[in-house]
Amino acid sequence: MEELLIDGGVPLRGDIAVSGSKNAALPILFSSILLDAPVTFHNVPRLRDINTTNAMLEVLGRPARFTDETGHSVRVEIETLSPEAPYDLVKTMRASVLVLGPLLARLGFARVALPGGCAIGARPVEQHTRALEKMGAELQLDSGYIIGRCKRLHGADITFDFPTVGGTEHLIMAAVLADGETILRNCAREPEITDLANFLKACGANISGQDSDTIHIRGVSSLSGSEYRVMPDRVEAGTFLAAAAITGGDCKILGCPIEELTAVMTKMGEMGVSFDPYAESTRVSRTAPLRGADMTTRPYPGFPTDMQAQLMALMSLAQGSSTVEETIFENRFMHVPELARMGADIRLSGSRAVIRGVGHLVGAPVMASDLRASASLVIAGLAARGQTRVQRIYHLDRGYEHIERKLEAAGARIRRVKT
Ligand code: EPU
Repeated sequence: MEELLIDGGVPLRGDIAVSGSKNAALPILFSSILLDAPVTFHNVPRLRDINTTNAMLEVLGRPARFTDETGHSVRVEIETLSPEAPYDLVKTMRASVLVLGPLLARLGFARVALPGGCAIGARPVEQHTRALEKMGAELQLDSGYIIGRCKRLHGADITFDFPTVGGTEHLIMAAVLADGETILRNCAREPEITDLANFLKACGANISGQDSDTIHIRGVSSLSGSEYRVMPDRVEAGTFLAAAAITGGDCKILGCPIEELTAVMTKMGEMGVSFDPYAESTRVSRTAPLRGADMTTRPYPGFPTDMQAQLMALMSLAQGSSTVEETIFENRFMHVPELARMGADIRLSGSRAVIRGVGHLVGAPVMASDLRASASLVIAGLAARGQTRVQRIYHLDRGYEHIERKLEAAGARIRRVKT
């Protein structure tokens, strides 16, 4: 097992580079199931979830590999498609269920393990499956697997009950090769969905409205692409903004997607954090004390649930009180008891947290429970007095590429140790 040891209290100063987006890369890599020719993706982050995706693609007949030991390009080859996505891979990464629609579109048959819940919530996929049924798929559950059959997927007019990121991505992928026109309504509008649609359009797909809540897709007969560059990771960038801010630092975040971070930067601005956006980077600094703020997580362009835990670390040191309302996931407060071990004063009541700022946090051994909760503990550790030991960092490695190296380059005293 590995842990991160952080000796807090050093204001971060220097440059931190943003990697490619995990949540854009995953569906984009899976969409290569739809292609008839090999493709190379650039700016793919080197993460555990990407390795799982590559392993899944290999099993499905789309061998996917980084083109060298340290780079960020992944080449996907075209071999005979296989219809089965095994539980061993799906259980380690729920997003694997996104292969169901593309396999049905290509093969008319698929056997895909149904993902279970995860630490942050039950995370059912009924919006995905109902919509696929409207497109002509017959789905049944057998021994933990979704068995899907269809002659051909056909276009349909689908209204999601609520905006779902994975559901919207899944149905875009299912519809691009279907017969006729699909209209997706009440879609999620996260930038990663737009990135997926942009890639598919570059391969010949006929998609419009991909950054709105109504997406039109007219099926085409085949798709082929050659290269695509994945967008920068807005959540990783937001995490670095929060890290610099909590330490009272002054950093340049290289390749920071500011437009996609508007809600996060607005809220951090309210809390006393300053930003100077330049063409290639964004300077983040803080000289005044942090001020409390109120925040509610919402689908994009609202405040992202994936930045809630990191902002709460900041709030725990802000003057006055703050509130956080989590509306997307039912169990996304697992960082709260760990932050409390470091001295944070947070009261939880259902989906609402009330945070009373304290003068300082104190380093402690803490346990990471999921990806973004882990990030909030790292951020808190950077500001805390003394040493913080973050355990179970395999969660962190799912979504942050070498976070300790990037933070260390900006002066943080942080190291990875084996236990
Ligand atoms: N939901 C349902 N039924 C469905 C689909 C979703 O009840 O059929 C519920 C979910 O349980 C959740 C809410 O709807 O309560 C929103 O889920 P959504 O489908 O939008 O999320 P997702 O596609 O499962 C992606 C990201 C998450 C991010 C959310 C929200 C990927 C691989 N994952 O999940 O990222 O929090 O959108 O923005 O893109 C992370 O990176 O740490 C992470 C969890």
